[in-house]
Amino acid sequence: SDTVTILGLESSCDDTAAAIVRHRAGQPPEILSSIVAGQAELHEAFGGVVPEIAARAHTEKLDLCVEEALDEARLSLSEVDAIAVTAGPGLIGGVLAGVMLAKGIAAGTGLPLIGVNHLAGHALTPRLTDGAAYPYLMLLVSGGHCQFLLVEGEEDFTRLGGTIDDAPGEAFDKTAKLLGLPQPGGPSVEVEAKSGNPARFKLPRPLLDRPGYNMSFSGLKTALLRERDKLVERDGGLHVQDRTDLCASFQAAVADVLAEKSRRALAEYMGRKPAQPVFAVAGGVSANMTIRAALETVSAAAGAQFLAPPLRLCTDNAAMIAWAGIERFRAGHRDDMSLMARPRWPL
Ligand code: KG4
Ligand code: ZN
Repeated sequence: SDTVTILGLESSCDDTAAAIVRHRAGQPPEILSSIVAGQAELHEAFGGVVPEIAARAHTEKLDLCVEEALDEARLSLSEVDAIAVTAGPGLIGGVLAGVMLAKGIAAGTGLPLIGVNHLAGHALTPRLTDGAAYPYLMLLVSGGHCQFLLVEGEEDFTRLGGTIDDAPGEAFDKTAKLLGLPQPGGPSVEVEAKSGNPARFKLPRPLLDRPGYNMSFSGLKTALLRERDKLVERDGGLHVQDRTDLCASFQAAVADVLAEKSRRALAEYMGRKPAQPVFAVAGGVSANMTIRAALETVSAAAGAQFLAPPLRLCTDNAAMIAWAGIERFRAGHRDDMSLMARPRWPL
């Protein structure tokens, strides 16, 4: 029929999520429900996501999330057309928990099963939120990922380049840790940076002068550590202004690198003369207002529409998985009980 309703499941990192998305051909898709249960408090004491704890929490919470997603959408499983599930990449225990539950539901109901690549979920989000037309340019920038993608179809992604070491979110988190700020580091560094001087510390812009779209963020963190230690040695500790200046200088360096590489990726993309040029971002780091503003500026200069979806759809969620499922379903793709969890699965 011309209406497709899909239940999506996501459990590849530290968010357990279930969502229902409905799409009537020719209409904008509708997110009927999107439930996300975070696990931050479970991992807090360990300073990072503990895979074993994450997997157990997913197993405990996934079916509750599914029930809640169905309740909120006022649907029963018999009104759903297929189950889409993140089959990778991610932490194997969590991905397995999702794939097993999806297989269980598929076996019990006879519904088709569709495996979705988590990165494809992020990359297809601007189609869910704004109906972006192919081909568009995407910058996926989160705690685990940083890459430019040319998106030409629901299974047609070209990776133009990306980080060769840390993801920017990881760099924000490590910076927060170095400066004694709470996790997740992105939001706390952004708040501090508001009252800081971004020009005080000359932090490196790694690979900025190299051709291509690759980036590096681990050197930035080392440089920051050096500046911090110099101040601590001199003054016996960090003054409030030192900390805010360090945060502002760090954030400016990340924004500069992302903006300059985006400018170049946009030049290549615009060279293809897309009919409706779009530059879209996704991932937790795209919540950062300084970074967003820098990206929006280069996008406007290149003549592309800039799309930054609402944050709840930029960070991990199952609506993006359900939507990617709808796109694959419409393209005729079906998986069966042989669907495997793939901890590594490049686009
Ligand atoms: O997409 P996400 O929720 O999860 C994955 O990594 O897949 O991204 C989380 C990352 C964390 O590293 C967090 O510090 C960063 O996004 N983040 C931010 C901001 N909000 C979240 N980074 C910079 N500025 C922010 N406002
Ligand atoms: Zn993600």
